[in-house]
Amino acid sequence: MTKTVAFHLQKGGVGKTTISGTLACQSALSSKKTLIIDCDPQGNVSSWFLQSAPKFELADVLQGKCFVGDAIVKIPNIDNLYILPTFGIGGTLKIYSETKLAEEPYVLQDLVSEVSKDFDHVILDLSPGLGMLERAALIASDEVVTPMTSEVFSLDGLEIFIHELQKLRKNMRSAVKHNKIIINSYDTRIKQHRDIYAAALESGNYKVYLIPVDPIFRKSQEAGKAPQLFKVRGRGMKEATAKVFDELNRDIWK
Ligand SMILES: Nc1ncnc2c1ncn2[C@@H]1O[C@H](COP(=O)(O)OP(=O)(O)OP(=O)(O)O)[C@@H](O)[C@H]1O
Ligand SMILES: [Mg+2]
Repeated sequence: MTKTVAFHLQKGGVGKTTISGTLACQSALSSKKTLIIDCDPQGNVSSWFLQSAPKFELADVLQGKCFVGDAIVKIPNIDNLYILPTFGIGGTLKIYSETKLAEEPYVLQDLVSEVSKDFDHVILDLSPGLGMLERAALIASDEVVTPMTSEVFSLDGLEIFIHELQKLRKNMRSAVKHNKIIINSYDTRIKQHRDIYAAALESGNYKVYLIPVDPIFRKSQEAGKAPQLFKVRGRGMKEATAKVFDELNRDIWK
C-alpha cells in the first residue's frame, strides 16, 4: 500500500526540504516509484530538482485547472523519482491557500489518494508555519517526521507541534503518526547538541535520528542533483549521512 510521509516542524530552516528531498532520492534509488509533492509556496524542492518551471504546478491541480497527471513530471537523471512541483512566481499556491483552502481542507488528501495507485511512496515538503496549507498536508499524510536543529527554540517548537497535532487528530479526524525526530546538523563534540539530543529522547516515545553537518547538501542543491549521486573533487556524501538515510528509508516505509 502507498504510504505518504510529510516532514514538518513549524520552525523555518531546520532542514525540511533537504531531508525530504534526500529521502525521496534514497527511496527512488531503492527502486520504489516515488513522488515528491512540493507543498511549499517557496518551491525550494522544485527548484532543486527541476531546471525550469513546467507547464502546470500543484496550485493548478488544486484549483481544477488541470488533471494531476498533467502536472506530475519525471525528475531527470534519477530513476523512479517524480515531482508535483510548485514555483513561487506569482504566488499561486500561497494565494490559493489563503483564499480557498479553508473551504476544502481535505483537497490534498483527495489528491494523494488519487495518485496513490501510481506510486509506492509519496513525500510532502512543507513550508514553515502551521497554517491551512500545512494542516491540509498533515491531514493527507500517514506519518509526519519532525526535523529540528540543536537549539532550544526547536525544542519549544516541538512541544507546540505535538500539541497542534493532537488538536488536528481530534478536530480534523487525522490519523497521522508521529514517532520519529531528526536532529539535523548535529555535532557530537558540542555539549549543547548532546543536551538537546538527551531532551529529544526524553520528550516522548520518539526514535531520534542524527544527521551531521554535511556540505554535500548545499552543493548538490546548487547543482540540481541527488546528494547520494553527487561528488565534488571526488568527495561525496559523508558515510554517517549515508548511513542515517539508509536507516530512515528502511524505518519510514516499513
Ligand atoms: N545537515 C546539513 N548540513 C549542512 N547544511 C545543511 C544541512 N541540512 C540543511 N542544510 C542547509 O541548510 C539550509 C536550510 O535547509 P532547508 O532549506 O532544507 O531547511 P527548511 O526547513 O526546508 O527551510 P524552510 O523552513 O525555509 O522551508 C540549506 O541551505 C541546506 O543546504
Ligand atoms: Mg523548505
